[in-house]
Amino acid sequence: MLKHISHIGIAVKDLEAGIAFYEKLGLKLEGIEEVPSQKVKIAFFPCGETRIELLCPTSEESPIAKFIENKGAGVHHVAFAVEDGVANALAEAESKEIRLIDKAPRKGAEGLNIAFLHPKSTLGVLTELCEH
Ligand code: CO
Repeated sequence: MLKHISHIGIAVKDLEAGIAFYEKLGLKLEGIEEVPSQKVKIAFFPCGETRIELLCPTSEESPIAKFIENKGAGVHHVAFAVEDGVANALAEAESKEIRLIDKAPRKGAEGLNIAFLHPKSTLGVLTELCEH
């Protein structure tokens, strides 16, 4: 059901510093998007088929702010593009007794369908499924 790694979400405290770091490594900033529902600003860096997404909280209420407080800045989630739509992938995951955070797809960055699997079922890695 997984096609390729869509993106890796990295929690950062300072978006400008994060952008400067990946530019230093030779990646090109594709854009920055604010997602008010998650209280987060995201900087996108394409890297082959995959993107690095720097996730920076815009408020202390942001789930990303809470993540940084608990675990420190660093890898927040790994997102896989799925073959046949997020709803089908969720149904398949559930049939294999994988715990879900989202029972149904919701809208992520750029209005694409996404859903999260529970880290308790995914070796401790918050795992996102997304549509392309
Ligand atoms: Co993501």
